[in-house]
Amino acid sequence: MKGRIFSGMRPTGSLHIGHLSVIQNWVKLQSEYQSYFGIVDQHALTTGYEDGLDFGTLIREIALDWLSVGIDPDKSAVFVQSHIKEHAELHLLLSMITPLSWLERVPTYKDQMQQLGKEGGKDISTYGFLGYPLLMAADILVYKADTVPVGEDQIPHVELCREIARRFNHIYGPVFPEPKALIGKVPLLPGVDGRKMSKSYNNTISLTASTEEIKEKVQQMVTDPARLRKDDPGHPEVCVVYKFHEIYTPEVAEVEENCRGGKIGCVACKRHLAENLDKLLSPFRERRAVWEEPGKIEKVLEQGAEQARSVTQVTMKEVRQMMGLK
Ligand code: TRP
Repeated sequence: MKGRIFSGMRPTGSLHIGHLSVIQNWVKLQSEYQSYFGIVDQHALTTGYEDGLDFGTLIREIALDWLSVGIDPDKSAVFVQSHIKEHAELHLLLSMITPLSWLERVPTYKDQMQQLGKEGGKDISTYGFLGYPLLMAADILVYKADTVPVGEDQIPHVELCREIARRFNHIYGPVFPEPKALIGKVPLLPGVDGRKMSKSYNNTISLTASTEEIKEKVQQMVTDPARLRKDDPGHPEVCVVYKFHEIYTPEVAEVEENCRGGKIGCVACKRHLAENLDKLLSPFRERRAVWEEPGKIEKVLEQGAEQARSVTQVTMKEVRQMMGLK
């Protein structure tokens, strides 16, 4: 029997090339597992409840991003968290058995309180924000998923999910598997200016970038400041262009040699990278154009929701029964 995965992303804006490896990992996994991918709009509200987020557009955008990279709705259920009411119901019922201290000691809670709250000016001293990882546990457990592909930063959340599953099973009887985190390798791509890639720094390359936009962004990339002339020997380890070559250019060894030997100028080296990035993104653009046709995304999300519900409704019936609800 195939294992089952659940994973999710918050719809907070269109994705960039730094997100690509995560989705590509899902694309690979969807052939090996029964796959459920949720656009977690309720999670976006835990920190963004005052931001006036336009979920209609945000959901459509992220769904297009996923499908254009290769998430296949014939293999995976793709749906919106808030359309599957059982996530919220399980969150509520699990809250009954969740010790407050377990939530308070989740490391991301204190970190985010500091970053988004004290430094970011957001008021997130809310019940909903404290419950973020519990909602995430409900997302996973309502599918009885055994595997959760996530980034390293989410490990404490999956750990909490395992503890909640264990506690539920201990109190009411065995219902939930204890899911394992599956940590995808995420190469750390800098932004074009060398800082962390982030939309708020305006230093990203969007997944939907056109050939022209790619060229522009690559032109902005910071190179070795010690290299004034074309034949000066370069230091690839300090060059943003090279960091991208390392990930997206098969002939990277040659690039390194040419740079260190002063055999190629930064302009030509950038042109080479822009071509490779264009090759990378161009199949996504083609697929995206197909999914963008009117009504297509809506249909995918509807079908995904039906598939999701066929699992979550069975789980919730069992959970209610175990907890004595009639
Ligand atoms: N918290 C995750 C993130 O920020 C998103 C998420 C919500 C998630 N629910 C999930 C991931 C369930 C995996 C499983 O990346």
